Amino acid sequence: MSSAPFRIAVLISGEGSNLQALIDDVADAGIEIVGVAASRADARGLERADAAGIETAVFSLADEPEREKRDEALAGWLAERDVDLVVLAGFMELLTPGFIRRFAGRIINVHPALLPAFPGLGAIEQAVEHGVKVAGVTVHFVDEGVDSGPILLQEAFELPYHRDISATRQHFHEVEHRLLPRAVRLIASGQVSLDPDNHRLVRLESDG
Ligand code: GRF
Repeated sequence: MSSAPFRIAVLISGEGSNLQALIDDVADAGIEIVGVAASRADARGLERADAAGIETAVFSLADEPEREKRDEALAGWLAERDVDLVVLAGFMELLTPGFIRRFAGRIINVHPALLPAFPGLGAIEQAVEHGVKVAGVTVHFVDEGVDSGPILLQEAFELPYHRDISATRQHFHEVEHRLLPRAVRLIASGQVSLDPDNHRLVRLESDG
């Protein structure tokens, strides 16, 4: 007997390479991408979703400049699709506290840094300019701050001295494309919980 698929929606703003990694990875894991919403009508990721036969919508501040109303419409669209998890995959905007509360504990984000180092925009460039020797990628639950929610997965790697920024970016993205689908699979299979005594701490079943 097969159980109902775990329903995720993916929020994007641009290229959508992380969305593509999810499309390529999760279908065989009982996970269904039931919608892709973009903050910009020209997000290339919308074409990737169309090509995969996934329903799409655009919720842009260009169409609805009041962020609260925009996020209410987005939340309604997600609720209609009965999503179990909202995945921010290169979604380049802050969500309102009302939206975050409505989906509390059910929103994750991928960020190209070892948080809490380098939150916010331009994390890869900041790490390179800072001269860090070790960098990495984080998948975390989303709270009302900027990249400040409980950490679910991290993968670290060394940054060589001779840095070609585009090759460096490519390396970060490759790690993201591995880590984000892994995080979604772990949540979908019920292997992730928050420590009841300290909600900053995420417990994975493999932690014992
Ligand atoms: C990724 O590096 C993501 O971590 C960052 O924006 C980039 C989006 O890439 N927030 P893509 O749209 O998934 O290709």
